[in-house]
Amino acid sequence: MKILFFGDIVGKPGRQAVAKILPELKQTLKPDLVIANIENLAHGKGITMSTLQDLLNSGVGFFTSGNHVYDKPEYKKVFETHGDKIIRPANFAPDYPGDGYKVIDVNGQPVLIVNLLGEVFMEKQVDQGSLTSPFQKIDEILNAQSSKAKIRILDFHADATSEKRAMGFWVDGRMSAVLGTHTHVPTADAHVLPGGTGYLTDIGETAAAHSVIGVSAESALRRFREHDLDRKKVALEIPEDATEFEVSYAILEIDEATGKCQNIKSIWSIV
Ligand SMILES: [Fe+2]
Ligand SMILES: [Fe+2]
Repeated sequence: MKILFFGDIVGKPGRQAVAKILPELKQTLKPDLVIANIENLAHGKGITMSTLQDLLNSGVGFFTSGNHVYDKPEYKKVFETHGDKIIRPANFAPDYPGDGYKVIDVNGQPVLIVNLLGEVFMEKQVDQGSLTSPFQKIDEILNAQSSKAKIRILDFHADATSEKRAMGFWVDGRMSAVLGTHTHVPTADAHVLPGGTGYLTDIGETAAAHSVIGVSAESALRRFREHDLDRKKVALEIPEDATEFEVSYAILEIDEATGKCQNIKSIWSIV
């Protein structure tokens, strides 16, 4: 089974980039499943009905998310309407809607997809509270679900590279792949771990080109340099009129009989 996985897609430029490249990628790569992380889909924070529809129109089939998933009030409607194809991190915000994992059917083959948040550096970034150990949570999920699907994918939405690497080894041989999201900058370590788990510390973002994790370099510099101001009051701006885009995705090939990863590749380019 071939799976194409986009990391964090940021705002309108990110959605435009997917629309620009995915139809052709689907023709050339012929993926069985296209997954995307949508925590930054609506103007950099959260999801709305129309922004999700943009990705559905482009051909994305399943969605993971992260700490910003509930930032737009429209999340309620999104989960009510599209909750069958979106997951949110399983180890936080227990009172909010959405499942933390799903077993979906891909061409007659069950696939388990799990979304977890890292703990390191994340507490201050999570407004909804109740962040619990991703290492315990993945064990709980696998104990209950592993018999249902041989192919098992984890989006580990975490800040620290060390925590992501540690997670890779924790589930090596138990998951088909562990793909990191959240930092928006791709890492160059796509490889198969000794137990057969495809691993990548961070896929990277799909966003406006020449940005600072999706926002304009000018606005990011203003925030970093103007120490006398309340940093939160310096608005970050998404370059809505961007005509060049940064795209990042991973391509996984997984043995359907064993669930082991045969090949993992990461792509980063400007289009
Ligand atoms: Fe993000
Ligand atoms: Fe995030």
